[in-house]
Amino acid sequence: MKGKILQLLDSSDFLSGVIIAKKLNVTRSAIWKQIKSLKKQGYDIKSVKNKGYRLISRPDIPNFEEVALNLDTEIIGRNIHYFKEIDSTNSYAKNLLKDEDMEGDIVISDIQKRGRGRKNRYWSSPLGGLWFSVILFPNIPPQNAMLITMASSVSVAQGIYEVVGLKPEIKWPNDLLIHGKKVCGILTEIDAEMDIINYSIVGIGINVNNQIDNDLKDIAVSLKQVTGFDISRVKLLKSILSNFDKNYLKLLSGDCDDIKKLWFSFSNIVGKQIKVEGEKSVLIGIVKDVDDYGCLILDVNGKITRVVTGDISYL
Ligand code: BTN
Repeated sequence: MKGKILQLLDSSDFLSGVIIAKKLNVTRSAIWKQIKSLKKQGYDIKSVKNKGYRLISRPDIPNFEEVALNLDTEIIGRNIHYFKEIDSTNSYAKNLLKDEDMEGDIVISDIQKRGRGRKNRYWSSPLGGLWFSVILFPNIPPQNAMLITMASSVSVAQGIYEVVGLKPEIKWPNDLLIHGKKVCGILTEIDAEMDIINYSIVGIGINVNNQIDNDLKDIAVSLKQVTGFDISRVKLLKSILSNFDKNYLKLLSGDCDDIKKLWFSFSNIVGKQIKVEGEKSVLIGIVKDVDDYGCLILDVNGKITRVVTGDISYL
């Protein structure tokens, strides 16, 4: 009901409780209760005797009411599970999974107490950032899983470019950098059988308006630090979800060339000399390509080597 009240208030100057109640077929006191609760959530709603309610401003809270408003997606963001605080949106999403109806559901939290990064690292997630997970049932073979990460990083890069005007660099496999410092990390978790992915949870962490922890200041940066402005998290999230939807539909239809092309437009890794640190080995070589499965093709002293995963650094 809150969403509908906001929609009505959005499209008029003042609107009386009686009219809203009539339009929504509920009592005036039900409307009053919802307005009270909206105010508590941070919506600035003016009440004037004999005139009614007027929406002055909306809070920058990525809840269902805000994110779903005019969201132009088919799959991604059909449902938003919003929390003020949670342990990890990826962990919550995993427990939430029931059936394929949940495809595109988003779990988002203002704060994560136990945010998880790749390789079980801790992911700092204070207030002001965007910490969310997307539930997917992609019906593709597990060897194509990297394409999900590629589609995700491209979508975040497109969103940042559209809303903030900065062009992030994608650092293989899934980091987004601005001026060489990490602004976004992506943790893609999959559950798969030999030939098919059962589900995938894409966890995306973006430093938007949050403070960067002191021990991370040399390697991480927030969008607010770079621009000097507070960025609307809702606007940024909506742009990312909209791009994600388009890219995901391409992925499902097998049109991966376009995702690859977009990925390369945000990356300049080809031709660079890099070091890749894997679980057990370290490789140094020159990047020749990223193949159709999202793997790095490295020239290691004249020997072409395919790298599936690892942490890279530019030399
Ligand atoms: C990395 O670069 O190591 C990946 C970081 C991924 C962090 C995000 S924040 C939202 C989601 N929930 C988590 O616990 N982790 C991911």
